[in-house]
Amino acid sequence: RRHILSLADWEEEEYNILLQTASSFSEVLLRHTKKVPALQGLVVTNMFFEPSTRTRSSFELASKRLSADILNFSPGTSSLVKGETILDTAKTYLAMGTNIMVIRHKQAGVPKIIANEMDRLQSGVSILNAGDGMHEHPSQGLLDLFTICSELDSSYPRLELLQGKKIVIVGDILHSRVARSNIWSLTKAGANVHLVGPPTLLPKWFTDIKNTDSKGQLFIHWNLEDALKQADFIMTLRLQKERMTEALLPSSREYHKYYGITHNHLNICQPNVKILHPGPVNRGIEISSKLIDDLSISLVQKQITNGIAVRMALLFLLGTFSE
Ligand code: CP
Repeated sequence: RRHILSLADWEEEEYNILLQTASSFSEVLLRHTKKVPALQGLVVTNMFFEPSTRTRSSFELASKRLSADILNFSPGTSSLVKGETILDTAKTYLAMGTNIMVIRHKQAGVPKIIANEMDRLQSGVSILNAGDGMHEHPSQGLLDLFTICSELDSSYPRLELLQGKKIVIVGDILHSRVARSNIWSLTKAGANVHLVGPPTLLPKWFTDIKNTDSKGQLFIHWNLEDALKQADFIMTLRLQKERMTEALLPSSREYHKYYGITHNHLNICQPNVKILHPGPVNRGIEISSKLIDDLSISLVQKQITNGIAVRMALLFLLGTFSE
């Protein structure tokens, strides 16, 4: 696989290779010497046309831990402001010797357009989608998968651990690229995924996913308590206000009342239920501040740490095997 644009067509074996590679890099990160020479001489270019803290910084750190050279492109201070196109920008970084481009854009499909152009030019460059509009965020989906599998067996995270587990994704599913990547990976693993949110923020595309050969099932709810019964993991999502029209935007107070997760919800879940959130968190809206900070239940800090190992694994697998 030369590019990572979506998790829709990932096979079980690929997930397990990724999980095992990330697990090895987790061990590396715990060592005194955290750097390995795996990608020495390769150039990784971060091209973020939309804001990011976690994804951008962890791809940068992952590249450095693998000894690659990293270029950070910032649209506001680039020649985009002088009218250069995105494709010409990508070709500029190609001419500088870039091997892997990490791309985030508010428009779904931009990473694929650049990947097609790189293939047309027979460049050998790999494109890694770091979040495109409402479409997908594959590296987030993979770090969430790794975090859940590691929680179930830290020494040997693997897909089969998720068989039959109940995972509830709460909130603004409609605008969430994270939810879509997660649904592909979790149902492939055999987990039963329950989506819950206001009817206006639930998507129509889940029928596409229902019609695949995934082992796990997908369920839709409007009522939070119905969805949460016996949950093993809860994934909360931010209201993606930047992708909403006024008509869709619920009031924060009303949203928290019906869909905000607090400690009070946990007694209907499995006794050792865990909470995930991709970040950034809007405290007191999709989740209470007290719960997100309760590290006996909240995996949010582990997700961020795991993001480095998972992105090292992605860069390593692309950089090592894509030629
Ligand atoms: N989860 C995530 O994509 O966070 P950032 O927007 O900070 O990268």
